Amino acid sequence: MRAHPAGARHGDVAPLTQQVAPAPADLAYLDPAIWPIGTERRGGAVVLGGVDVRDIAEQHGTPVYALVESDVRARCRSYRDAFGDDGDIYYAAKALLTRALCRWMDEEGIGLDVSTGGELAVALAAGFPADRILMHGNNKTVDELRQAVTAGVGRVVLDSDIEIARLAHIAEELGVCQRVLVRVTVGVEAHTHEFIATAHEDQKFGFSLGSGAALEAARRVLMLPSLELVGLHSHIGSQIFDTAGFDVAAHRVAGLLASVRDTLGVTLPELDLGGGFGIAYVAGDDPVDPHSMAKQLRAIVQRECAAAQLPTPRIAVEPGRALVGPAGVTIYEVGTVKDVDGIRTYVSVDGGMSDNIRTALYDADYTITLASRESDAPPLLTRVVGKHCESGDVVVRDAWLPSDIAPGDLLAVAATGAYCRSMASNYNNVPRPPLVAVGNGVSRAIVRRETIDDLLALDQP
Ligand code: LLP
Repeated sequence: MRAHPAGARHGDVAPLTQQVAPAPADLAYLDPAIWPIGTERRGGAVVLGGVDVRDIAEQHGTPVYALVESDVRARCRSYRDAFGDDGDIYYAAKALLTRALCRWMDEEGIGLDVSTGGELAVALAAGFPADRILMHGNNKTVDELRQAVTAGVGRVVLDSDIEIARLAHIAEELGVCQRVLVRVTVGVEAHTHEFIATAHEDQKFGFSLGSGAALEAARRVLMLPSLELVGLHSHIGSQIFDTAGFDVAAHRVAGLLASVRDTLGVTLPELDLGGGFGIAYVAGDDPVDPHSMAKQLRAIVQRECAAAQLPTPRIAVEPGRALVGPAGVTIYEVGTVKDVDGIRTYVSVDGGMSDNIRTALYDADYTITLASRESDAPPLLTRVVGKHCESGDVVVRDAWLPSDIAPGDLLAVAATGAYCRSMASNYNNVPRPPLVAVGNGVSRAIVRRETIDDLLALDQP
């Protein structure tokens, strides 16, 4: 995400004079830090998971989200290895959720973080083991809480006083003792976009550590026999590169474990440090390596707990973007190329803000390439835009493409596995694209393309 110039409002169209990175030396280069593992060119065309993008487009149509299964699995393993047997990884399902993905996560030993009844329903429909599901949300409905407890979810993360009372009542009614964590707002300003930073004090999530509300919430929970307090939770934001925020959060929340022991006489066995680990969208983005992150977090928690003479708790994390983001690529077909004289060239594709709202919403930046062929034409600075009826419908604001870009060419946008399909809409009554798993030279739709009939089926004249 770009930093906003002072005074600029979110959503402002960038001034035409905005600094643009120079054209890359090789427009066809696929940076392995950005593209899914194993992505290559064959005969000029991009090949994902062993499948030529032209075949993906031919078989499934465009636009289409491709997801490289082996890339997702490799990242899951890397997180599992990094956090080891004394840690838990809960995949944040809001990034992307399908039944196939639930199965992959299950097979890789990853738990699931769900935050609505809908996400819970998909996980359960996939047969995901309920005891490895953790339920989030700042406004879980009574029905959602009841579904979660009935299903036997492993953990519910408590977010408000009202919710403590609601959940205790439901668990009591159902005759179970529900394991819970208390979500703590640790007062860390994560260096990320304001809309996705979540641990500064002025926001809707969790109980404040600074005001004493978090300790008070722990006290209330401990008095309720239908709830078992097993730990504390903190999540500081999303797409974070700077590990300092995690350090401070881990330090503070581990400190609260000591206060809980000292004040309430209970040693909590778990600490969930949330998600937010950044990925590379464009050249120069420097993602956090899970191994060094795990080592660093463990060291801080161990040091803090040793100082307070507490046993080291089990550490959990909730990566979403970091597990699925880099595995996803969106493939579009170019429809029109328009040279707006003296200003810029607009390249319009057959999707846009309905399949990727992140550029409009967060000023997100993406890497794009001509995917169906190679070209010797010189680079041309373009703006790749969608087909929706507003000027903020931008896919990539400043995209260097070969100057012979033409209708019928396929463009591929990297790192769209997280928060693109899951935040997609039907704006302009555009049916949402399919999600296609690719691997070993084969592609398979794991979410089919929506049709106009699907849309009309919801419409009750
Ligand atoms: N845990 C909790 C409690 C969360 O709220 C989130 C994300 C995660 C884990 C996973 O965060 P991740 O590892 O994916 O960064 N729509 C935005 C991102 C919003 C994230 C919301 N919470 C985007 O497209 O960038």
